[in-house]
Amino acid sequence: MKQPRERRHGRSRAPAKAGAERASSSGKAAKAERRQVPAAAERDRTVRPSGALPAETVPLILEVNPNADYALLDSGDGEKLEQYGPYRIVRPEGQALWARALPAAEWAAADAIFTGDTDEEGMGRWRFPKAPLGETWPMRHDGIDYLGRFTSFRHVGVFPEQASHWADMEARIRSAGRTVRVLNLFGYTGLASLVAARAGAEVTHVDASRKAITWARENQEVAGLADRPIRWICEDAAKFVEREVRRDRQYDIILLDPPAYGRGPKGEVWQLFEHLPAMVGNCRAILGERPLALVLTAYSIRSSFFAIHTLMRDALAGFGGRVESGELVIREKAAGRALSTSLFSRWVPK
Ligand SMILES: C[S@@+](CC[C@H](N)C(=O)[O-])C[C@H]1O[C@@H](n2cnc3c(N)ncnc32)[C@H](O)[C@@H]1O
Repeated sequence: MKQPRERRHGRSRAPAKAGAERASSSGKAAKAERRQVPAAAERDRTVRPSGALPAETVPLILEVNPNADYALLDSGDGEKLEQYGPYRIVRPEGQALWARALPAAEWAAADAIFTGDTDEEGMGRWRFPKAPLGETWPMRHDGIDYLGRFTSFRHVGVFPEQASHWADMEARIRSAGRTVRVLNLFGYTGLASLVAARAGAEVTHVDASRKAITWARENQEVAGLADRPIRWICEDAAKFVEREVRRDRQYDIILLDPPAYGRGPKGEVWQLFEHLPAMVGNCRAILGERPLALVLTAYSIRSSFFAIHTLMRDALAGFGGRVESGELVIREKAAGRALSTSLFSRWVPK
């Protein structure tokens, strides 16, 4: 097989002749070759792209601090106390190995307490000690209104630690000087899609859950962003991306926030350790000519950020730019302790 060529972006370490080679390429085949798209038969296994590994920054710890919309008030004894808009909420938190800092009265003042399976994706019930609360309530992220919801999976519709990525994405969209195309995979209730759309991007949002898509569309209305271009797609993320590769679609920013285990709408199984390598390879293939970011987050897995860092650097060999990896943490208000929530790895042009 002919060796794929180097691809250069930003401070690339690719040889100077790569540009000349690229200029001589034309047509779909040449384009696919440059983007190192795996042949159909090879899509299920990882094909190592050629070229120099991107530069690296490790470890990078991105923090979310208490703010008017959200605060981790306290943590300890396997639980966390958070403020989500008007409500104070208690949920299990396996990583809070330490003791609580706030007095018991502060915890007792909670509006909602999740009781049930302590497993991250486990089912359970909400208890409302003060007064019964409605299923949804108004929340806000950085000026974007949306709906919180008490779900039986303990989640309330937002993963606040993601705000670090959203701020970075928003800055890249605003400074791009062109219309940026964003693909939000495993997009859930759509906060990232709304941040991107508000910044002026054209957004494609993909999630397997019809409920999540309905909630995300509702959020678009609530946020007053109904006129912004967001395509809401209920589909298996892996299948969707494979199809985009075949269609030769391109995106400037891809957000990839997969669960450890999930299912597509037709029962397609998503297993992070099994399917992530092909997914990252396909995401590489659909990054456009002037890509701005590929952001991967992983949580609830037994792994190190170095594992996804190495996967990303390897999958983006020959792409130039930089891969930055580490953890997303939330800084607690009571005693300033940091709670780790997820691992991340992101490719950026510089
Ligand atoms: C943790 S959430 C993502 C959080 C989101 N990125 C955010 O910041 O709000 C994981 C999402 O993946 C979706 N999901 C699970 N399996 C999927 C699959 N095979 N294809 C597409 N989406 C899937 C779930 O419905 C859920 O909304």
